[in-house]
Amino acid sequence: MSCREFIRSFRRARGAHLLAGLLFLGAVGCGGGGSTSGGSQPPSPAPTEPAPTPSGPTAWIWDLPPGFPVPLVPAENPMSEEKFQLGRHLFYEKKLSVTEDTSCSTCHEQNRAFTDGRPRAIGATGEVHPRNAQGLANIAYAPTLTWNNPNETRLANQLLTPLFGEDPVELGLSGLEDLLFERLRAEALYQELFAAAFPDEVDPFTIENLAFAIEVFELALISGRSPYDRYIYGGDEDALSEGAKRGMDHFFSENLDCTHCHGGSNFASALNHEGNQSDSTPFENNGLYNIGGTGNYPADNQGLYEFTGRERDKGRMKPPSLRNICVTDPYMHDGSLTTLEEVIDHYERGGTRIDSGPLAGDGRDSPNKSDFITGFLLSRQGKVDVVEFLCSLTDDEFLANPRFSDPFASAAD
Ligand code: HEC
Ligand code: HEC
Repeated sequence: MSCREFIRSFRRARGAHLLAGLLFLGAVGCGGGGSTSGGSQPPSPAPTEPAPTPSGPTAWIWDLPPGFPVPLVPAENPMSEEKFQLGRHLFYEKKLSVTEDTSCSTCHEQNRAFTDGRPRAIGATGEVHPRNAQGLANIAYAPTLTWNNPNETRLANQLLTPLFGEDPVELGLSGLEDLLFERLRAEALYQELFAAAFPDEVDPFTIENLAFAIEVFELALISGRSPYDRYIYGGDEDALSEGAKRGMDHFFSENLDCTHCHGGSNFASALNHEGNQSDSTPFENNGLYNIGGTGNYPADNQGLYEFTGRERDKGRMKPPSLRNICVTDPYMHDGSLTTLEEVIDHYERGGTRIDSGPLAGDGRDSPNKSDFITGFLLSRQGKVDVVEFLCSLTDDEFLANPRFSDPFASAAD
């Protein structure tokens, strides 16, 4: 695929408000016009140009936890160790922001399962994002990306939103592609990493390659070695406390029905993997809001409705994976629930009620709420147990895995 085709395919999948920034991207071509790049890149080196010939890509070996299927990898972007390493550096690279002080990892911190601990994310220039930063564990298995966009199905595409989006500004690089590549080219480190990751290309400094490398890093973020996994797949009876085992029974019961939307090995609503590609997410309204009794959500967060315009899609969001949920507080698309106890109370009641103010209304009575959110009764101990179970989904190995950590921090150690 040429650079322009690549950008065009981005545009097709974009949310409307991002179009402006990306039209600009399309206008400048892929490489950002650094002195040696000059617009669109040829897919392979011209025969006269001596291409850098490192020994070629290192074969990728998935180190998957027991019970985990092989992720689907886009055919035009096969995994390689060299792309992974480039992607990892770029993910933590602050030069990827207008202010040179923000990176993907600012909002996606490894020790919080790649969330940021804030109700709503804050971009490089201080702009508050309408939504909560999502975790990236097992993102490889998600058929769609972000809380509510049904068209965003590709990681290499999604990351253009934080890079170049203008509403809200996240990394703030709209219109600054040239500057971005100037900064990267100036570093011996990136000369080496880009050449190693894309050895067949005369000038590997392109948006496409940058996006592909970060995509490979993200695809590799697999998490499945929690106490729960040791108990289920490892036969380790002692991996779970008695409380967590009781909580597990509640969680999987028809009474609570959590698995209707948070099921399967990823505790999510849908699972893509090799041999199983679905292109849709069952977006659901779990009764967080019902402003004025009309089924409305706050104006800046109407969920799937923002893409379909269908009244019944108001408040419908992607049910997140519950893996590592204990460390990704606060919860929900807007961070409005602070603790897991509050989350359980929300589901026990069958929706959240807000008594006064502009958001007043009872989510339990929303005409748009899923039929599977019906409320239930659970003892105090039962709630404690469910929370304990949810915390048994924390994969400490993942949260501290040096392969996923900040390469610049470890270099300074
Ligand atoms: C300013 C904070 C911020 C920065 C910087 C940021 N993100 Fe995010 N990220 C978010 C928020 C907020 C969401 C939810 C977006 C939405 O629903 O519209 C999100 C969503 C995502 C998702 C979708 C996850 C899912 O479960 O569907 C991916 C993937 C992602 N970000 C990757 C990245 C990458 C890669 C970068 C760097 C290029 C990055 N993000 C930079 C805040 C940020
Ligand atoms: C009908 C589908 C559905 C059912 C059933 C359901 N959920 Fe959810 N869950 C969702 C959706 C959708 C969201 C995101 C809603 C939002 O942000 O507006 C969510 C969010 C969550 C979150 C916050 C995730 C995060 O990253 O912020 C937790 C925790 C959670 N659910 C736990 C549970 C538990 C425990 C149960 C069972 C008692 C349950 N859910 C039942 C659909 C469901």
